Order: sequence, then C-alpha cells, then structure tokens
Amino acid sequence: MEIRSTTEEDLDVFVDTIHAAFGHFPDTPTEGGGGLWWSALEMDRGLLALTADGRPIGTAAAYSFELTLPGENLVPAAGVTAVGVLPSHRRRGVLSAMMRHQLAELRARGEFVSVLLASEATIYGRFGYGPATYTARLTVPRHRAALAVPRARGAADAPATGSDSASDSASVKGSLNDSVSASVNDSDNGSIELLRRAECGEILEEVYDRYRRAQPGALSRPHRWWALRAGQPPISPAPRYVAVHRDPDGVPDGYAGYSIESGTLTVDETIATDDAVFTALARFVLGHDLVSQVVFKHVLPDHPLRRQLADFRAGEVSGDTDWLWVRLLDVPRALTARGWFVDGELVLDVKDPFLGEHGRYLLTVRDGKADCVPTNREPDLSLDVSDLGSIYLGGTAPSTLVRAGHIRAHHPGAATLADTLFRAERSPHCLHWF
Ligand SMILES: CC(C)(COP(=O)(O)OP(=O)(O)OC[C@H]1O[C@@H](n2cnc3c(N)ncnc32)[C@H](O)[C@@H]1OP(=O)(O)O)[C@@H](O)C(=O)NCCC(=O)NCCS
Repeated sequence: MEIRSTTEEDLDVFVDTIHAAFGHFPDTPTEGGGGLWWSALEMDRGLLALTADGRPIGTAAAYSFELTLPGENLVPAAGVTAVGVLPSHRRRGVLSAMMRHQLAELRARGEFVSVLLASEATIYGRFGYGPATYTARLTVPRHRAALAVPRARGAADAPATGSDSASDSASVKGSLNDSVSASVNDSDNGSIELLRRAECGEILEEVYDRYRRAQPGALSRPHRWWALRAGQPPISPAPRYVAVHRDPDGVPDGYAGYSIESGTLTVDETIATDDAVFTALARFVLGHDLVSQVVFKHVLPDHPLRRQLADFRAGEVSGDTDWLWVRLLDVPRALTARGWFVDGELVLDVKDPFLGEHGRYLLTVRDGKADCVPTNREPDLSLDVSDLGSIYLGGTAPSTLVRAGHIRAHHPGAATLADTLFRAERSPHCLHWF
C-alpha cells in the first residue's frame, strides 16, 4: 500500500473513492448541495491510499480552519474530513496508516491542533482525538413557550411577559418582500428583519465571523464556503428564511435561519453576538404563528434558553451528543496558546500511545497566560493525549474523566484544581459541519 498527497487533478478519483466508502453515488443529490460540497475541498491537503498496483482504496483530507480557544485566542486548526476506506479493504490498517501519515504532515506544517467530527465515536480515540464540544436539540412546544421575567433585572426594565406565548412581544408587520421589521421586546432596542437565505449571504458571513471569534470551540467558515454555498444549511443553497437581528444602529448582530414543515419550525443555527440578541431571536421564532413547536437544532445541552422558559420542562433536550473532537500535536504549544482564567500550577504526565510519545509538563498559569515546560516533578494528573484533547477547550471537566477512570489523579484535590484551571469563560460550542 502507498499513501500519497493529492492535487486538484485527483478530485474526481478522490470524490469517487470517498463516495464508495460511504456507500453513496457521486450524483446523488444531498441537502448540502451534492458536488458543490466537494468543490470546497483543499486538494493540496488530501491523501489517497492506493494498492500496490495503484488502485485507490482510502481517502482523508483537511481544511485550514481557525479555531477559537478559551480567552478568544484564535489559532490555526486542521479540520480532518473525507475519511473513508473502501468496504473491500477495511480492518487491515489502511485508516491507521493514513492517520499516521496525516498527523506527521500536520506537524510538518507547524499545526499543533487538529479537529474532526466523528461518524462513529469508536473510531478516533485510538488516534489521540477526544470529544471536546457537545451539542443538542432543544424542542419547545409553542403553547408552553412563554419566557420568564429575568430575576436579575428590575421590573421596570424587564421584557413584556405574562402572556400565554412568546409571540406577544414580537409584532410582525408588512410582507416578506418588503423585509419585515419588528420591535423585539421592551428591553431590546434592536430590530428583526426577515430575509431569504439567498439574499443575505454576506450578512450571515459577517455575523458568523464576529460570533465565532468570541466563542470557544467555534471554527472559522472560509469565505470560499460561503461563496460556493458549499456547506450544510444555512450556508448551502437549501432555501431558508433568516431572521436577522440588528442593533439600534442597524448593524446586524445575530441571525436565526429556519424552515417550517408540518407545523414544526426548525432553526438550523442561531448565531448571536451576545445573550440578549439570542433571546430576541428565540423570542421571534417562538412567537411564530401557525407553528406547534420550535426545534433549535444546535444548542449547548445546558443552554440558558432552557432557564429562560417560564416552564423549565417546556424545553426538551434530545440528541445530546459529541461534536468537535480535538487532537493535540504539540502539548506545550497548545497549552500556552489558550487563555486561562485562574492562576495555578499543575504537573501533567501525558501519554500519546498512537505516536509512541510520552512527556511530563509543568503547567504554570499567571495572569491569564500559561507557561508549559518539561519537568521531572511528581505528576498531579496522568492522562492520555485524547483526554487532554477532551479537556483542552474547557468543555469536559477533568474530574469527570477521573471519575470515569480515564485520567489518574495522584492526590485528592488534583481533579478539582484541574477543573478550576481548565474551565473556559463559557462552554465551548461548535456549530460548523464539515
Ligand atoms: C472508519 C473506517 C475509515 C476505518 O478504516 P479501516 O481501514 O478499516 O481502519 P483500520 O483497519 O486502520 O482500523 C484501525 C483500528 O480501528 C478499529 N476500527 C476501525 N473502524 C472502526 C469502527 N467503525 N468502529 C470501531 N472500531 C473501528 C479497527 O478495528 C482497528 O482496531 P485495532 O487497532 O484494535 O485492530 C472505515 O471503516 C470506513 O470507511 N467507514 C465508513 C466511512 C466512515 O465512517 N468514515 C469516517 C468518517 S468520520
């Protein structure tokens, strides 16, 4: 078997092979846009596995993303994608060989973190990836969608509530073609404009970019994707309505892209540059007429919206699952790249079985910055690099992995200290599908 890098000329054979691995046909239309999707591949970052006589049997590729780390630190991250091996050649080590080849290539490019979305959760742990962000679906029946008065606010500036549904606070006027403007609620001086997906691509791109820079775990969406509309909705050409929120100066600062079918309003993604904007958008979709329920497809499992509902049980969380998996390729570089929020010191003994590496590091955090150097000191925690990937963005508590028997805490208090240190300013979340 040979593994080689691809060029633009390999696109057809690459796409053909990955389709065969997934059991699809290249011309099957998909919601994401079929062939368009593949045109966004960076073919200089692809790999093909070939038999000794040159037949393609496996593929892997990577996108050049920017990942937001805790502390709003932006770093390059390889987004591993299009991984597949022909059913006729599985369980013979083809994927393992491609993963080894790819990790060496990423390192050679100077990248220190790679990320992926896993088709099955049993595949990538052995290659050093750990689940690091989580997402869920939140379903709210419209007749139970009233929002509570926020207790931290005085009654005077609380939004209008006490109504049976969330609809009362967002009055919609005009026709769609005129772009509907609505005052969102008493505490929100912004407005919502209703647009069609096809006419607001630039606004979405701009707002998404602002949002992702401040959201740990978020990935950049390269301009090429937006221009090609080569992703999942709402980037894709699939028709969507989009509620675009604007601040009092008219600057777009959030959006919710949605479709309605059989009385269910499904929001593909709600992007908001702050919590009040999210609330305004949620209020808008929850108040939609002729809708029996609203499904928020991608929210944090512990999203504050659940607590904003007057009836806590009205928000039903389902499909709680892993999303972004993280793999560190250079532990000291990765740990010094993120922001930290509490001072402290921790000795981490990190094993990387797939690459046959082992290092012990002293992590010292002062004033939001970390130093990470090799040490011979006794460790506080012993862990696999995949577990370090899981806790890196602050979305998995080290103590959870200690309790699960994956991380070893060498003394009482080590897990609590690690929990405090690794926490991010907010739960990491990634909405991007790749
Ligand atoms: C997943 C896939 C790429 C694995 O390729 P492969 O060449 O068979 O993998 P390897 O032979 O290198 O397997 C390496 C190890 O992973 C295990 N493994 C591989 N695929 C696995 C799976 N789907 N579930 C559980 N374990 C798996 C193997 O048993 C082997 O374990 P071992 O080291 O203990 O012997 C291949 O099955 C495939 O193309 N599946 C369909 C497409 C897909 O899901 N791609 C991933 C997209 S994120």
